[in-house]
Amino acid sequence: MEPTVTPIDATLGAVVTDLELARMDDATWKAVEQAFHARGLLVFPGQHLTEEAQVAFANRFGNIELLAADPEQKAVAISNRKPDGTIMGPDEHRYKSLRGNEGWHTDSSYMPLAAKASVLSAQVVPSAGGETEWADMRAAYEALDEAMRRRIAGLSAHHSLYHSQAKIGHIVQTGTGYGFHTKGEPLRPLVKVHPVTGRPALFIGRHAHAIPGLDEAESEKLLSDLLDFACRPPRTYAHRWQPGDVVIWDNRCVLHRARPYDYRQARVMRHTRVAGDPATELAPTDRDERAAAYEPSASNR
Ligand code: SIN
Repeated sequence: MEPTVTPIDATLGAVVTDLELARMDDATWKAVEQAFHARGLLVFPGQHLTEEAQVAFANRFGNIELLAADPEQKAVAISNRKPDGTIMGPDEHRYKSLRGNEGWHTDSSYMPLAAKASVLSAQVVPSAGGETEWADMRAAYEALDEAMRRRIAGLSAHHSLYHSQAKIGHIVQTGTGYGFHTKGEPLRPLVKVHPVTGRPALFIGRHAHAIPGLDEAESEKLLSDLLDFACRPPRTYAHRWQPGDVVIWDNRCVLHRARPYDYRQARVMRHTRVAGDPATELAPTDRDERAAAYEPSASNR
């Protein structure tokens, strides 16, 4: 049976039912891939995938980006519950990374190779809040006026996890975890043409900063004005998770953020990231003094 693809009432997203992700035949996979390119975000309610099946599903879209030191580990927990079952406290490094996820971003844009797609599944959900929200950067680009399109054509921004975490007061030492082991800052155009659909999309988010050719204040203002304009209805969708739900989104044209919840309750999500294609998601990095500014020192620790 063909899966049922029901568009969400927004410029992005569809809910896909009448299929088992763990047992897709070729025709079903083709329908899913086509919907992924058309809608940028697919929600699969109640799939309850095993970790192995989630990795296999992500693998259909491309190579898995390794987020842990162990190359065998292809899925990671995005969770405030520690392996010993206790809940993280606000002073812990991982807690601060989770709070950082509440800002609009695209996965791994701060790495030389940005991510193609991300798969998230809900394992344990809090009683309220903790949604994930996505915003359609294709529709955002299309909604810009001609003057703004002209202004940003040819502009690029550096992307840095040091920068985005520092903005929420989290000063991180090099080598503290994924995204913090390199000091190079990829330089990425503000407009990204999708390698499959050819649609232009804004490529911005909280990791983007320091547009070459603009001073710091101008750059921050432009990026924050664009983000504010882009991440509004009808270009957004927030998903209220039920355990077993699976979502995949296209990081090349969709931003996302986690929504707050009572951090004393457990929220456990399983995450698998699909690596970008080096032909289209690899960016040049620089290693200038900007990155060094985020190094803990006597003055900023
Ligand atoms: C993420 O920012 O990649 C995770 C989003 C979430 O936890 O909802």
